[in-house]
Amino acid sequence: MPATQSREITAASRLERVRYAIRDLACVADEVVKQGHKILPLNIGDPLNFDFQTPAHMIEAVYKAMKDGKNGYAPSSGIKEALDAIRGEAARKGITTIQDVFVTSGVSESVEICLAALLNPGENLLTPSPDYPLYSAVLAKLEIGLNTYDLNEEDGWQPELEDIKRKITPRARGIVLINPNNPTGSVCTRAMLEAVAELARRHNLVVFADEIYDKLILDDDQHVSFASVAPDVPTVTFGGLSKNYLAPGWRIGWGVVSGEPSAVAPYVEGVNKLLRSRLCANHPEQYAIRPALEGPQDHLIEVRKKLRSRRDLTVNWCNSTPRVSCVSPRGAFYAYPRIDIPEDDEIFVRELIKQKYVMVVHGSGFGQKPGTKHFRIVFLPDEATLTKAYNAIGEFMRDRYGKSV
Ligand SMILES: Cc1ncc(COP(=O)(O)O)c(C=O)c1O
Repeated sequence: MPATQSREITAASRLERVRYAIRDLACVADEVVKQGHKILPLNIGDPLNFDFQTPAHMIEAVYKAMKDGKNGYAPSSGIKEALDAIRGEAARKGITTIQDVFVTSGVSESVEICLAALLNPGENLLTPSPDYPLYSAVLAKLEIGLNTYDLNEEDGWQPELEDIKRKITPRARGIVLINPNNPTGSVCTRAMLEAVAELARRHNLVVFADEIYDKLILDDDQHVSFASVAPDVPTVTFGGLSKNYLAPGWRIGWGVVSGEPSAVAPYVEGVNKLLRSRLCANHPEQYAIRPALEGPQDHLIEVRKKLRSRRDLTVNWCNSTPRVSCVSPRGAFYAYPRIDIPEDDEIFVRELIKQKYVMVVHGSGFGQKPGTKHFRIVFLPDEATLTKAYNAIGEFMRDRYGKSV
């Protein structure tokens, strides 16, 4: 009999910097569920958990693809009809200098591939703070240190240009712009995009424009795509089916590389090398890309109407509740209220789950300026559910911190 292996298998030390607060809280919630309580989930940005449905014509297209035998591997960068549709969509967004297009397993995989294809050890990438934690998790896997720039709450969560300037060093290779933003719901102004473009030109930075929520603009603003105002700046614009097209479980996302052809060519080759090394994105689901981008967009009218009403309810609650204030979100389905409490926002969130079974995510899981505290709300649930959740949070705060500040 071989001796039993008893030594502990330690995980790689680089994982110490991987944090994903949104899903990490699941352990606390599991305990509460085991005790027989039902959780009100205001923590995960999945519209399918609520009263939103994937458009039927997209489902038909995937079903047909499966029946037609499109069940083998796809080309590494994606099927032709999807790539053509994504190019068309990019052109409609005003992107005129498209150099490459590829389909991935969600925007998540585009981010993994595009960051890995760019960054050498010792180099860095500017990411927003607060940020969507995927970026810092990918950077941790690549053993790249964080270099965050602030979003300015006093300026409607626009990027803080002065901070970006301070953070650009010769080792900085790129900058991430999440627009519309997760977790704040802000939408970048054209002037801001132009200012970032100017910095990118001056310092030879690649811009990663995460525009996965670009059709979920809640007011009368026009979404302006970064690459449309900066056709010469090397840019990867991310988009996908998860949010605008209500199909997050299909894991379909894409990247559009734009800029001067000769400048981006070696980088495009690097990206494609990585695309080839991992076979392909889900194949039948790629047949929904063209129907999604070129077919009826009616669902968006309904989605935006629901989100607008739920956003208004959320902001009204925040701004009428002691210790809570909130910049009104203009896009996506997140609000990032500030809270004035005498303890860490992580404790606030954990206790809220345990005592009121409402799940939100703490600001320290996304990053925030020292001394400030926040939590992120996903305002996808219907008005009745949100009202119930906000009443519970209000009661929790009154009991725990008293009536006034
Ligand atoms: C800003 C942002 N980028 C990317 C993603 C990941 O999207 P996907 O489902 O396409 O991987 C999310 C998901 O919440 C997101 O909020």
